[in-house]
Amino acid sequence: MNCRIALPLAALLLISSGALAADPIEDKAKLCAACHGEQGIPQLKTTPVIWGQNAGYLFLQLRDFQSGARKNDLMSPVAATLAREDLLPLATYFSKLKWPNLQQPPAPQDVAAKALNANTSVGCTGCHLDHFQGDGSTARLAGQQHDYLLKTMTDFRARTRGNNPGMSDLMNATSPDAIAALADYLAGLQIDQYLNQSQ
Ligand code: HEC
Ligand code: HEC
Repeated sequence: MNCRIALPLAALLLISSGALAADPIEDKAKLCAACHGEQGIPQLKTTPVIWGQNAGYLFLQLRDFQSGARKNDLMSPVAATLAREDLLPLATYFSKLKWPNLQQPPAPQDVAAKALNANTSVGCTGCHLDHFQGDGSTARLAGQQHDYLLKTMTDFRARTRGNNPGMSDLMNATSPDAIAALADYLAGLQIDQYLNQSQ
C-alpha cells in the first residue's frame, strides 16, 4: 500500500536533486554539440574544433562574435543568445576537453615544403609556437579541420574575418597557393606527443 506513495516521492526527489547538482555551464555547452560535435568532431567540415582549443582564444572569439567584430551566419546568432558572464566559463570548459583526432592525412612532402616555406617567410611559429599548438589567446592550428582552416585564412585575407587585422595583413603577404598548402599541412599535423597531458 505504502509503495504507491513512496515510489513517486523517491522519483521526485531524484529528479530535483539531479537538477540541483547539474553544472549549468555543462548544460549550456550541450547547445554547442549540435554543430561542434558530441565528441568534439564537428558536423560540418567548415566548423572548427573547439574541444581542447586554448581558453583565451575561445573567449576572445565568443566576445568578437557577440560584438559583431567577427561574423558568421551559423555562429553569430548563437553567440547573441549567450550571457556575457558565461563566455569565460564556456571557453574554460571547452579548453579542458580533449582535442579530437580527425584522422586527416599528413600533407605530401612537396606540399609540406611549400607550407614550411611560407612559415619561414611569415614566421607563423613565432606566434603559434613550434608545433602550431598556440597558447593563451593564440589559436591552436595543428589538427584543425582542413576546410575550416582554408576558409578562415581566406576570410582573413579578404578581411571578411575582420577581428584581427594583424592576421589579415599576414595572409595578404601569403599567396592563395601557399594558404592552400598551409591548410593541408596544418590539418595533417598530429601533435599529441608534444603536449603535456594536463592540457
Ligand atoms: C548552428 C551551428 C553552431 C552552433 C550551435 C555553435 N557553433 Fe560555434 N561555430 C559554428 C561555425 C560554423 C563556426 C565557424 C565560423 C566561421 O567560419 O567564422 C563556429 C565558430 C566558433 C568559435 C571560433 C573557433 C575558432 O577556431 O575560431 C567558437 C569559440 C565557437 N564557435 C564556440 C561555440 C560555443 C561555445 C557554442 C555553444 C554555446 C557554439 N559555438 C555553438 C557553428 C556553431
Ligand atoms: C604576430 C603573431 C602571429 C603570426 C606571425 C601568425 N599568426 Fe595566426 N593568429 C595569431 C593570433 C593572435 C590569432 C587569433 C586571432 C583572433 O583573435 O581572431 C591567429 C589566428 C590564426 C588562425 C585562425 C585560427 C582559428 O581557429 O580560426 C589561423 C588559421 C592562423 N592564425 C594561421 C596562421 C598562419 C598559417 C601563419 C603564418 C603564415 C600565422 N597564422 C601567423 C597570431 C599570429
